[in-house]
Amino acid sequence: MATSSKLRSPVLPRRRLAEPFLLLLLLLAAVASSTAAADVVELTLLTGAQEKGAVCLDGSPPGYHLQRGFGSGEHSWLVFLEGGAWCNSIESCSRRKMGVYGSSKFMKAAEFNGILSNDKQLNSDFYNWNKVAIRYCDGASFSGDAEAQDKDGSTLHFRGLRIWKAVVDELMGKGLATAKQAILSGCSAGGLAALLHCNDFHARFPKEVSAKCLPDAGFFLDIASLCSSEDLSGERHMWSVFNGTVHLQNVREVLPKDCLAKKDPTECFFPAELVKSITAPTLILNSAYDSWQIRNVLAPDGSFPGQSWSSCKTDIRNCSSTQIQVFNGFRNKFVNDVEIVKDKKNWGLFIDSCFTHCQTPFNISWSSQASPVLGNKTVAEAVGDWYFERSYEVKEIDCEYPCNPTCSSQLPT
Ligand SMILES: *[C@@H]1O[C@H](CO)[C@@H](O)[C@H](O)[C@H]1NC(C)=O
Ligand SMILES: *[C@@H]1O[C@H](CO)[C@@H](O)[C@H](O)[C@H]1NC(C)=O
Ligand SMILES: *[C@@H]1O[C@H](CO)[C@@H](O)[C@H](O)[C@H]1NC(C)=O
Ligand SMILES: *[C@@H]1O[C@H](CO)[C@@H](O)[C@H](O)[C@H]1NC(C)=O
Repeated sequence: MATSSKLRSPVLPRRRLAEPFLLLLLLLAAVASSTAAADVVELTLLTGAQEKGAVCLDGSPPGYHLQRGFGSGEHSWLVFLEGGAWCNSIESCSRRKMGVYGSSKFMKAAEFNGILSNDKQLNSDFYNWNKVAIRYCDGASFSGDAEAQDKDGSTLHFRGLRIWKAVVDELMGKGLATAKQAILSGCSAGGLAALLHCNDFHARFPKEVSAKCLPDAGFFLDIASLCSSEDLSGERHMWSVFNGTVHLQNVREVLPKDCLAKKDPTECFFPAELVKSITAPTLILNSAYDSWQIRNVLAPDGSFPGQSWSSCKTDIRNCSSTQIQVFNGFRNKFVNDVEIVKDKKNWGLFIDSCFTHCQTPFNISWSSQASPVLGNKTVAEAVGDWYFERSYEVKEIDCEYPCNPTCSSQLPT
């Protein structure tokens, strides 16, 4: 809640990178331009990071932002994992360590919005909870455990898994251990991380504690990209990014054992596999027209038939009906992959059809006049109803674009 200008900083810049792997997703912090009492939370660096080997790519200590809960929220905790794509090669990890996604040297205070907001009107169910945003500086969804030599001879530390464990351990000592209600969330690569660590998170609490997982925009599909010309078959882009990441960073311990027994570890890093072995109640929140996946996975730059994709990928309203049909193919795969959730008790689905990416950490998508509405609920209402079991079930899958009139063009893409 501190508002001194020293603390205020737009941690994550709002810009679109040409490089697909390095997308920057600006979860915690939109640019703080208003003079309204913005919710700025200082950075805490993990203590004893080096001794625990729990470090960012460059060897610096990882960081998090903790805002204490109050009143009836004193014993409730929301842990939110920041996103920001992956690094899957020495080159991409080496570049990443020069910035905020690979080193805490560049991290500053963060603004808490959406589900992280302490404003009662905007965030009526969680505003007074303890809230933690854990910064992402390992490049493998908090899941790798290895090191490698950088081209300049220095060490690249792939310690996402240790970061996850050490930060959560530290939080346990700060009150998480006595939580009565808890949620593990995160967006994009952090949403994937919330799936990967859901069982571990859940297992840290006694049975009577309501510990649930809320991966936001973390449901990445293993789908072929559009061809770059008519007769070439498209690459499985997400698969190759994940394959590089999983091997380079030695992602293994977090992957489900029954999956590993049958399949390649890269396959087991995909949400479609992960959900099969998650035991905690989980709500999958994602657009079936996820703007990041459409731009970077389905129709990456250079897709056939060329130029006409760029305006469509910038603004879905500019797509032709043929292009929308291609997107509908993506949606079909999505709906198919989440089918398994329909039979899971206490699980939830909020799969809207709005062209956006990440819906919890932004005021506008989380709870506003422009929030996507599904089953007569905004994102915030659906998540609250699911978590507190106020509805019999929250399992909503939207109809095909553009059928949902609440999809606003103001949503972040
Ligand atoms: C989000 O809403 C809160 C509460 O109304 C406000 O203080 C904050 O400035 C908003 N953030 C942005 C980025 O608009
Ligand atoms: C997956 O990554 C490993 C390690 O980098 C590499 O040896 C292998 O060829 C990759 N598999 C495919 C199908 O690209
Ligand atoms: C979308 O189409 C409109 C009208 O044709 C055009 O003015 C606008 O620039 C287009 N948007 C993009 C992002 O290309
Ligand atoms: C939708 O929600 C509003 C307010 O939450 C309520 O008044 C209305 O009756 C609901 N409509 C349906 C069809 O459930």
